[in-house]
Amino acid sequence: MADGANIQIKDPGPAVISGDFTVTDADGNVMEGLNPIIAICRCGKSQTQPFCDGSHSK
Ligand code: FES
Repeated sequence: MADGANIQIKDPGPAVISGDFTVTDADGNVMEGLNPIIAICRCGKSQTQPFCDGSHSK
């Protein structure tokens, strides 16, 4: 695996991101205080967008 971020697609489920990454919001601001491993919702059902809250499994 290369250095940097790794993105693992769960099917069904989120995109799990680990490694060295930053996330910016819709205004381009860096989101601070994120966990070192995050899950980005791919299904659109999460109530905590852009993060997965497990709703994809319902
Ligand atoms: S992928 Fe998990 S709630 Fe959307």
